[in-house]
Amino acid sequence: MKIRVLFVCLGNICRSPLAEAVLKKMVAEHGLEDQIHVDSAGTGSWHSGELPDRRARETAAIHAAPINHRARQISSRDFQDFDYIIGMDRSNVQNIRNWPGAIPEKISLMMDWSEHHKGMEVPDPYYGEMDGFEQVYNLLVESNSGLLNHLKNELKVAAPSA
Ligand code: 4NP
Repeated sequence: MKIRVLFVCLGNICRSPLAEAVLKKMVAEHGLEDQIHVDSAGTGSWHSGELPDRRARETAAIHAAPINHRARQISSRDFQDFDYIIGMDRSNVQNIRNWPGAIPEKISLMMDWSEHHKGMEVPDPYYGEMDGFEQVYNLLVESNSGLLNHLKNELKVAAPSA
C-alpha cells in the first residue's frame, strides 16, 4: 500500500513545494519512501513549469531539505490519484473544494495536522522577506510531524505484521 499526499497552494512556487520538501525529508528519515508518495500543485497556473521561488529554494537548502519540483496546476485527475489533498490556507481549501471532480473527504487544511496551531493558515510569504519563508518552514515542520504520525498509524493498520 502506498499513501499519496498532495500539497496545494496558490502559485505552487512557495508554500506547497516547501511542504513537499519537508515531508519528503521526514519520509526519507523514516525509511518510508516506498510507502508514502509526496507531490505539490497550485490552484493557479501562472507559474506552471517554473522552479520554486529562489527564497523557497534557499530556505530548503538551509534546512537540507532537497527541493526538486516544477510548478503545475491541480487537475481533476489528482482527486483520483491522491489520498490526501492539503491546502495551505482557507482560500486554497475553498478553491480545491470547488474544483471539478473534488472529493471533499480527501481535503484538509495544512495546520489542522499540527498539535498547537490547528485552524491557522500558512501565510503567503510571496510579497515578504526571507524571514517569512523561515516562519513558513517552521509551521510546515510542525504540521508535517503530526501528518506523518497519522500516516504511520495508517500504514500500521493496513499492514499490522510489518
Ligand atoms: P504560493 O505563493 O501560493 O505559496 O506559491 C504565491 C506565489 C505566487 C503568487 C502568489 C502566491 N502570485 O501571485 O504570483
